[in-house]
Amino acid sequence: MPNSLASQETVSFEETLDLMRTKLTGIVPDVEIEIKAELAHKINQLKAEKNAVILGHNYMEPALFNSVPDYVGDSLELSRVSAETDADIIVFCGVQFMAETAKILNPNKTVLIPAQKAGCSLAEGISAQDVRDLKEVYPGVPVVTYINTYADVKAESDYCCTSGNAGNVVRHLLEEGHKHILFLPDEFLARNTAKEVGVDYIEPVLDAGVQTLSDTPAIIGWKARCEVHELFNVDDINNVRKQFPEASVIAHPECSPEVVEVSDYAGSTKQLIDYVQRVDAKQYLVLTECSMGDNIAAENPDKDMLRLCSFRCPYMNLITMEDTLAALEGIQYEVHLDADLIERARTPIDRMLSIR
Ligand code: 13P
Ligand code: SF4
Repeated sequence: MPNSLASQETVSFEETLDLMRTKLTGIVPDVEIEIKAELAHKINQLKAEKNAVILGHNYMEPALFNSVPDYVGDSLELSRVSAETDADIIVFCGVQFMAETAKILNPNKTVLIPAQKAGCSLAEGISAQDVRDLKEVYPGVPVVTYINTYADVKAESDYCCTSGNAGNVVRHLLEEGHKHILFLPDEFLARNTAKEVGVDYIEPVLDAGVQTLSDTPAIIGWKARCEVHELFNVDDINNVRKQFPEASVIAHPECSPEVVEVSDYAGSTKQLIDYVQRVDAKQYLVLTECSMGDNIAAENPDKDMLRLCSFRCPYMNLITMEDTLAALEGIQYEVHLDADLIERARTPIDRMLSIR
C-alpha cells in the first residue's frame, strides 16, 4: 500500500510534524513525535536525493511506519512492490529474509537492511541440508517454502508462499494432481493451511528411509515455529472474552491451530488490517506483533483495539529510524547473494507471484 507522507519529498519539517501528529497523537508521546519527525524529514530528503525507495513491513513501530516507507504491507505485498520498483536503492525496513527476497527480485539494485541481525526464528529453523534430506525421504513430492526462509532454502524449493497465499499455492499444486506437498518450515502454518484446504497433516520423518505415502492428500510439515506467535494460547483468548464478550479475536496463522480455531478470523498481517477496516466489532484483539495494533489504531481512530503487548518480535524491533537514516547515509547494510543462488531462489518466488 503506498504511504502518502513518505512519497512527497518536498514536505517541509513543519508539515512532516503536523502529518505525524495527526496520525500518532494518543499512540506516541508528543515529545517522541517531535524527535521522530526530525529523523523522518532527514530520511525522506536523503531518500529523494539517492533515488531510494523504503519498504516497511506492517510490524514497524508506529512512528517509522507512518512517516518514511513509500510502501507498507505484508510479505506478499512488499514482494510484489519490490518486483516492480524502478528505484536504484531499496531500503527494507523489515527482517533479513524480506530484504533477501527483494535482492533476489532485483539482483542489479542495491538492497539495504538497517540492522544487520534482524533474523527470524522460522528462517533459522530450517537449513538447505534439511530440505535436501526431506527430498530424499519424500522423492517427487513438491516443496513449498514459506517466504520466512533464507535464500539457500528457497533455492531448494519448487514454490514459495506467504501467510497471505499459502492456501492458494497448496490448492494450485493439488489441482495439478499432486497428492502430497512438503510445506516448510512453520509447523503451525502448515497445520492451519492443511485444515484450510481440507487435507491431512503428516509429521515429517527423517531417519527411517524413503517413506511410502498413502493415497490420501496431505501436507508434510516441519518443526519450526515463530517464537512470538507460538506464545499466544487459548486461555488468553478466553480471559479476554470474559472481560470483552463482544470483542472480535483475529490471529495470524503462525499461531497454533488451537488458537486459530477459537479465533473469529485468521490471515496475513494485511488481511488482519483489512478485516478490522471491513468488519464492525465492539473491540478487536489482534494476535500478532504488538506494533501492528498501534498501526491499525493510528489508521482507524474510531476502532477499539485491545492488545496483548507482552509479545514482541525482537528482530522486527531492531529496525529503528536512527538506523534507517544511517542506512541511507552510509549505504549499509547491503544484502549480498551469489548470482547462482539468486537464480535458483528466484524460480519459486516467481511461481508464487504468478498465482493470484
Ligand atoms: P505477513 O506476511 O503476514 O506480514 O507475516 C510476516 C511475519 O513475519 C509474520 O510474523
Ligand atoms: Fe519471524 Fe515471528 Fe518475528 Fe515474524 S514475528 S519475523 S515469523 S520471529
